[in-house]
Parts: sequence; structure tokens; C-alpha cells
Amino acid sequence: MKNNKSNSELPSSNVSRRQFLKESSVAGVAVASQFPFVSTGVASGYGKSDQIRVGVIGCGGRGTGAALNVIGAKTKVIYPPPHNGYHTEDAVPGARPKAENVSIVALADLFPERLRECRQQLKNVGVEIRDSLCFVGFDAYKKVMELEEVDYVILATPPFFRPAEVRAAVEAGKHIFMEKPAAVDAPGVRSIMESGEIAKKKGLGILAGTVRRHSADHIETIKRLHDGAIGDIVEGRCYFNIGEIWVIPREPGWGDMESQLRNWPYFTWLCGDFIVEQHVHMLDAMNWVLKAHPVSAYAMGGRLQRPDEDYGHIYDHFAVEYEYGNGVRVFSQCRQIEGCTNRVALAVLGSRGSSNCEDTIPGASTWKYEGNMIDPYEQEHLDLIESIRNGKPINEARAVAEGTLTAIMGRESAYSGQLIEWDAALNSKRDYTPAQLGFGACPFPEVARPNNYKFF
Ligand SMILES: NC(=O)c1ccc[n+]([C@@H]2O[C@H](COP(=O)([O-])OP(=O)(O)OC[C@H]3O[C@@H](n4cnc5c(N)ncnc54)[C@H](O)[C@@H]3O)[C@@H](O)[C@H]2O)c1
Repeated sequence: MKNNKSNSELPSSNVSRRQFLKESSVAGVAVASQFPFVSTGVASGYGKSDQIRVGVIGCGGRGTGAALNVIGAKTKVIYPPPHNGYHTEDAVPGARPKAENVSIVALADLFPERLRECRQQLKNVGVEIRDSLCFVGFDAYKKVMELEEVDYVILATPPFFRPAEVRAAVEAGKHIFMEKPAAVDAPGVRSIMESGEIAKKKGLGILAGTVRRHSADHIETIKRLHDGAIGDIVEGRCYFNIGEIWVIPREPGWGDMESQLRNWPYFTWLCGDFIVEQHVHMLDAMNWVLKAHPVSAYAMGGRLQRPDEDYGHIYDHFAVEYEYGNGVRVFSQCRQIEGCTNRVALAVLGSRGSSNCEDTIPGASTWKYEGNMIDPYEQEHLDLIESIRNGKPINEARAVAEGTLTAIMGRESAYSGQLIEWDAALNSKRDYTPAQLGFGACPFPEVARPNNYKFF
């Protein structure tokens, strides 16, 4: 995936993280007072006939996908195994109430061509976005927060940016669909937790794109586990072992910062390492099943087959033993190495049985989920919109923050070689923000090794 744009098209602002966080909060306050309708009590005032007006921040693969999900959330369904996949053309009329009166009105991205691609995809399905509601640059998200026309934001930038965006959205009175993970470090996690509390007081919804929590098969299965179908859960396992994902090699003319931003999944400050960026799905699901977060992580990991700097400095495998408060242990693996046996799965063992936490509880009379399902990527928006209109907005900030910290704790244990406890992870002072946020110098980070990396 190559990109030929040079720095000349890009905004030149240099913003430190402190400034970024401070300004986003200040901008939010100004907007809140300027537009009291969007800042207070929107949830309780919503009816089905009121438009939900969506602004998309981060117009890449997932931002564009989520934008299509929020407007396509009316008819698309998927079927459970053996069909096993998202059959987006197969509509089951009446399978689910429609999310009516939802429109996409604004777009924001750091890079102009990413925004253009998203805008074109929306145009292809009949959605036109006005020029005046398209914004590019590091400040683009703030412009969307200032819009009276927007009351629901999709946040799909690289994870580093999420805490500041969530805070700005909450301050500005917007409902939030935020992609996972919530942050890349403990200060970011704490910020999300605080934003979640502010959102509750303001009656704002926050739903995180963890997918499984809005997937009918997982919901039904995990409900049965919570109701005691396999007795007390004594052990868990989770895996996100796959091959390589996309890489965007550095192009001539790109500075250090631009090349890292474009190739963000390979830099810990931007993505949290892939245990945080990707495996958070499974760790969040384990916390959900166990109704808890772990008390400690004991991990190892490394970088075996990331051949060069196009693959940044992150690891390509982690193995973590998580201990939960009641002595339950969860064994966790994730890997991004080509040519290995892939496995993306959950499993728990109970005192009276076992389950894949997805759709099956084996036994003398095996239980299996057999209902139809709406694509969970659409179901997420249906659920958030319905909760807003019912005046009881969903708030998943705490859950996704804890899932994210679970992953960060595993990463920090592997990087440092130390067993890490939850409270230490939560109170960690390590802040991954680079010295300057702007197009220019950004040192290439070292690979973390227990002999050069200290947890603090
Ligand atoms: N829930 C899921 O299954 C799922 C799947 C894929 C990705 N994701 C998550 O979605 C997020 C985005 O991933 P993606 O695959 O779409 O990546 P992507 O690179 O395709 O998109 C990210 C977009 O954000 C833009 N961007 C970068 N910095 C920005 C900034 N400061 N302000 C505004 N825009 C900025 C980029 O230019 C790009 O267009 C990540 O958090 C990722 O973990 C979730």
C-alpha cells in the first residue's frame, strides 16, 4: 500500500501532547456553552424521529466501515455457523428494528487523500458530505466537535489519539462510538475512565468497537456461563494468532513522523503494540466472561520475524499468564507471524463443563447458539442509537479501559520481564507521547528488551 503524497499537502502545526489534551478540553468547554442543545441532556430528549447526525474522525478502513455500518444498519444480517461469515446481502425483513433517521454529515482525517477515499465510498452509496464539513490535519477532530450539526462521533484514528478525542467529544456533548483499544498507556486509560464518568453525568453514550459484546451468539453463550451452565469457571484461554497485517513502507519525502503515522500499527506510541491493538478483543472478552479484570500479568514475548524498520519496533508474539482475583488463571497468546497455525479463539473450563464463549457449551445435551444474527459491526450502532433514544445511553468506557489496561499490563510485563500487578499498571506514569506532535523529527524507537526497558 503505497502513498505518493508529500509533506507539502500536510498541515504544518507542531503540537505537544500537553497542549493537545489541554486545547481539546478548552475547545470542548467553549463549544458546550455555545451550543447548549448538544451539550446537555440530549439523550433524554431524543425521539425516533430526531436525526442522529454523525461525524467520522479517522476516515481509514475502520472509520469508513463504521460509517457504512451506521447507515446500513437496517437490513444486513449474518448467519451463525456453518455459514460462518457476514452475509451482508442476505436481509431478513423484520429481524431487527431499523435505526432510522441517521445521517453522516462530517468527516475529519489527518491526511486529505484518506478523507477523499472515504468521502467517495460514501458518495457511492448516495451520501454526499458538504465541503464545509470536511476537515484535515491534527486539529480536524476539534472542528467536528465544534459543529452543532453533529451529535454522534465515530472515533477511528490510531489508538494514541483516542483519549484526547473522547475527552473533547464528551466536553462538547457528543455521543461516542469509539474504536478499540481505548489508549496505548496508563495515563490514556485513566483519561478514558474519567471521560466515561463525565459522560454518565451528561447523559452521553459511549460504545466501544469490541464487537463480541454486541454479537448475539457471544451474548447468549456468556449469559449462560454467568447463569452457572458450567459451574465455577476455573481457567481460561485466549488466542489471537494470525499472520502479518498491512504494512506501509516509508516513501521518499516522508519525514519521521509522517512515516510512523502512516504505518501506525508498528509503533507502540501509536498502537500500544499488537497485543493492545488487536488482542484486546480477546482480553476484553475474558474480562467480560469472568466479570473481573486480572490482578497480575506474567509475560514474555519478542520479535522473531519482523525483518526491518518497515515493521517498526513492536513484537510479533506474546504469551501472558493472567491471574484473576479468585485464583483463576487465563493463558493468553497472540502472534503475527506468517506461515504458522492460526488460532483466534476463547475457551473456559468450569467445575462442570467448558465452553468456547462464542456459541457452544458441550455436554450430555450440547447447547449451541442457532439464532440469526445481525452483523455485530452494525449491531453496535443499533444498540448505541437505541439506548440514546431510550434515554439510557450505553456507557462502555470503563469496560474498554479495563480491557485495554489488561493488554497494556501484558505488554509491560513482556517488555520489562517483570510480573506486573493491576494497581501498578493502572498508576503507571509511563507516557508514550512523543516530545512533539507535528510533521517533523520523531526518533525511531528501540525494540524493548528486559535489559533496556524499565516498568514505572
Ligand atoms: N473493531 C474492529 O474489528 C477493528 C478492525 C480494524 C481496526 N480497528 C481499530 O480502528 C482504528 C483505526 O484502524 P484502521 O484499520 O481503520 O486504520 P487506518 O490506518 O485505515 O485508518 C486510520 C485513519 O486515521 C487517520 N488519522 C491518523 N491520525 C489522525 C489524527 N490525529 N486525526 C485524524 N485522523 C487521523 C489516518 O489518516 C487514517 O485515515 C484502530 O484503533 C484499530 O485498532 C478495529
